[in-house]
Amino acid sequence: MYKLVRNRLEKWPVLAAALFMIIQVFCNLNLPTLTSDMINKGVSTGNTTYIWHTGAKMLGIALIGILASAGNVFFASTQAQKLGTKLRNALFEKVLNFGNHEVDKFGASSLTTRTTNDVLQIQNVTVMILRMMLQAPAMLIGGIIMAYLSEKKLTIVFLVSLPLLAIAIGIVMSFAGPLFSSLQKKIDRINLVFREGLTGVRVVRAFRQDNFEQNRFEDANKSYTDTAIKAFSLVSLMFPIMTLILNGTNIGIIWIGANLVSDRLMEIGNLVSFMTYAAMILFSFMMLSMVFVFIPRAQAAAVRIQEVLDTEYSIKEDSNPTSLNNSELSLEFKNVAFRYAHAERRALESINFNLHSGETLAIIGGTGAGKSTLVNLIPRLYDVESGQINLNGTDISTLSQSKLHEQIAFVQQKAFLFKGTIRSNLQVGKPNATEDEMWHALELAQAAEFIKDLDNGLDSIVEHNGANFSGGQRQRLAIARAIIKPADVYIFDDSFSALDFKTDAKLRKALSNDKKISQSIVIIVAQRIATVTTANQIIVLDEGQNVGKGTHAELKKTNSTYQEIIKSQLKGEDI
Ligand SMILES: Nc1ncnc2c1ncn2[C@@H]1O[C@H](COP(=O)(O)OP(=O)(O)O)[C@@H](O)[C@H]1O
Ligand SMILES: [Mg+2]
Repeated sequence: MYKLVRNRLEKWPVLAAALFMIIQVFCNLNLPTLTSDMINKGVSTGNTTYIWHTGAKMLGIALIGILASAGNVFFASTQAQKLGTKLRNALFEKVLNFGNHEVDKFGASSLTTRTTNDVLQIQNVTVMILRMMLQAPAMLIGGIIMAYLSEKKLTIVFLVSLPLLAIAIGIVMSFAGPLFSSLQKKIDRINLVFREGLTGVRVVRAFRQDNFEQNRFEDANKSYTDTAIKAFSLVSLMFPIMTLILNGTNIGIIWIGANLVSDRLMEIGNLVSFMTYAAMILFSFMMLSMVFVFIPRAQAAAVRIQEVLDTEYSIKEDSNPTSLNNSELSLEFKNVAFRYAHAERRALESINFNLHSGETLAIIGGTGAGKSTLVNLIPRLYDVESGQINLNGTDISTLSQSKLHEQIAFVQQKAFLFKGTIRSNLQVGKPNATEDEMWHALELAQAAEFIKDLDNGLDSIVEHNGANFSGGQRQRLAIARAIIKPADVYIFDDSFSALDFKTDAKLRKALSNDKKISQSIVIIVAQRIATVTTANQIIVLDEGQNVGKGTHAELKKTNSTYQEIIKSQLKGEDI
């Protein structure tokens, strides 16, 4: 945790918090002595002026103590808040740069918990440390010294009460500690189930799995609640134990003290102040031990945060990137093979092709054939296992990633839209796009018509993930967002599947007639034969193998897999 916090706290505010804390402790330690003076020299002798005097002094010191305490709280809390902000920013920045591989590894829900709950734990403990970590030992030691100075003989009671308290705390914490660490994992689990239920809410309903999901969530939630109740019940045991020991100590003090007072070996005021010191000592001792409970919990959170921050990107940025050769556009796959982490089988095997400006490649194959995997390699969402991908003759792994991404416009298989407006979504593709460019892109994507029908046109609201549009409309908007981007390579991963045959054909025709896109490289992933017929090259994929390559006419004659696909889709009709 130290590593995580060290560079993220500011030196001066932390020192200020410590300084205020010391002033506060100093004030607290002085008050009982003044009480004792007031009783010894004022009350017993009936000296009213002295009482007023000391009273005023006490009031002043108490006031300073309160101000110092407020100062300490102010600096401690602002530092902790700022620390939380910095940690969340650092995590978000890191996660934004994660490749799919890293996201797969942690899981989205765990990343969420780490950014929210775990950071909160650190934040809370930071306040605690800045408030108590110094205060408790200072009060403890100061209290013992002051108690000793005010009455040596009475300090004997601590020899009994402090070890008793230590044993009680030790027993409680040894049970509570492990419970606290398991709480974090259980929150992860709640988030996971909740997220799954939320993203899959339609599927859940359609398959009548509501009860199953509900039970799953209740189980996770109950498991968390049970553990939390156990842990906090154990901790709450501390207060009665503490009270018991404190009262026992006071009885001891009065017992011994009463004898001393009656023998005139001690003044009554000292007895009172000693009892206050005793409460202070025991209380700080308990506070200190509480800090030690929460530190392991925060430590667990810190480890989880650090784990994310320390993750090495699987997609490595070349430290000395080569610049892209702009003279001639080409995209080449040379013997490319790929395997997902922990997968037994390769998802792609020796893929070869070479495309030039103005050419269209179509990739066809059944579900799970590896089509998405293949196109995901182009923007380096994953890196190849062996072989090479060249853009304009340069290995893409030696290019800077931002440069590479600039060249590529990608429509993912699962069309994702941002919450905002049509306009703001299109601006993701091209930030400074004009209205004309927007309408042109929408026109090409066959989306202009239904946007025109909306009351607010380009400024119509898009809900999170485009929930207020149909699947086909979402796809067309995602296509418009991609084609508005000035790029060299346009990739459409199964983007035409939710469109009817007529719209699909119109869209492809519009793309091939567009001035900009007709000079670029276009890759179309499809499962439908009709979508691929006009491509310059077609690659037929089956279980990651390239089982055929050529034009529609060639493949139709010679390739058995291709013929099978045709047969299954058109029942032998000629196209
Ligand atoms: N993130 C992943 N981790 C492990 N295996 C994956 C992952 N994504 C896809 N696969 C596997 O790789 C194969 C190809 O998947 P994919 O490229 O999505 O097929 P397609 O797009 O042709 O339907 C499938 O067997 C699939 O199970
Ligand atoms: Mg796919």
